[in-house]
Amino acid sequence: MNKRKITEGVALLGAVDWSRRLFDSLIPLPDGTSYNAYLVSGSEKTVLLDSVDPAMVDVLLGQLADVPKIDYIVSHHGEQDHSGSIPHVLEKYPDAKVICSTKAKSMLMDLLHIPEGSFQVVEDGETLSLGDKTLTFIYTPWVHWPETMVTWLEEDKILFSCDFFGSHIATTEMFVTDKCRVYEAGKRYFAEIMMPFRNIIEKDLEKIKDYDIGMIAPSHGQIYDDPKWIMDAWHDWVYAPPKNLVVLPYVSMHESTHRMVDRLVSSLVDNNVEVELFDLTVTDIGKLAMALVDAATVVVGTPTVLAGPHPLAVYATFLANALRPRIKYLSIVGSYGWGGKTIETLSAMIPNLKVEVIDPVLCKGLPTDSVYEALDKMAAAISEKHREQGFT
Ligand code: FEO
Repeated sequence: MNKRKITEGVALLGAVDWSRRLFDSLIPLPDGTSYNAYLVSGSEKTVLLDSVDPAMVDVLLGQLADVPKIDYIVSHHGEQDHSGSIPHVLEKYPDAKVICSTKAKSMLMDLLHIPEGSFQVVEDGETLSLGDKTLTFIYTPWVHWPETMVTWLEEDKILFSCDFFGSHIATTEMFVTDKCRVYEAGKRYFAEIMMPFRNIIEKDLEKIKDYDIGMIAPSHGQIYDDPKWIMDAWHDWVYAPPKNLVVLPYVSMHESTHRMVDRLVSSLVDNNVEVELFDLTVTDIGKLAMALVDAATVVVGTPTVLAGPHPLAVYATFLANALRPRIKYLSIVGSYGWGGKTIETLSAMIPNLKVEVIDPVLCKGLPTDSVYEALDKMAAAISEKHREQGFT
């Protein structure tokens, strides 16, 4: 697409990646994504904010074909989907200075081999006049790496937020029209990318709350011309207590674990606890991550295979530990044939989770009546704990 005018002197550039289905060789992208860059033309200086994934550099260079001079390239974030084409932009505009945070400079030198002389490091809160437009650079660490910052364009009341408030959606829409769709994509994005840094993002949200933001222009997904709702959503994902919800990722080999899981789900529902169940052989791992934003309890269902948990259960447990959700309780259910160390292995994998472990239920072979009774007791115990904590 060609560059598009947002306001006078401010344009959307960048590329829509309709085909990409995996980010960082890890994160599912069911709706593709975009790499948004922005061009701000003041009366005296012109600034490019971020670039695009290097695979799509030709799109960006085409949009810059009629731009004779760029004075500054702002790099909000060192990750290559935004910074990766900066070396190509510098080839076209060799006198441009790369503006970034203190931490970003060394990162960009390491990742992209941008020469030291090309940088102009800015401090938190520093301003830059473009003539009739003024940029303020605000450090917002850990959205998504430690060096991240955002830029505030005072005259137009636009916050250029890079990964902050982003969503992975490929679309021709410039502005958000379907809030439900963007809410879902935004929550998935928060869960997969931002949740581990929730405590620090609290401070970032606090830092921008007093700006009179008329528009948020992220580097993934559409622009928010009515940004309050997405700021409120992020506030909720960061601050809200867990809900009365059990997330239950499971895998079963010969139906025994499946039967246990089915019984546990029924019993939890009978005890007025909501459940989100994920069959790990078919699940979208992004959906599991989203459910973890709200969950109070995780129960992992796994058979014992090769003396330990099933590898898919190991993966889900590793992911939960890495994403650091705000869960309070955790347990394990599953079947085994002759023995093993399933509980010991999974328990050792969750050092990041400050949880109370509820007694696991393991059974040899097919579940018996006493196993089903133990699962009913587990459901009642979870329900009681959720009630005590006031989770609704
Ligand atoms: Fe969109 Fe952390 O990069």
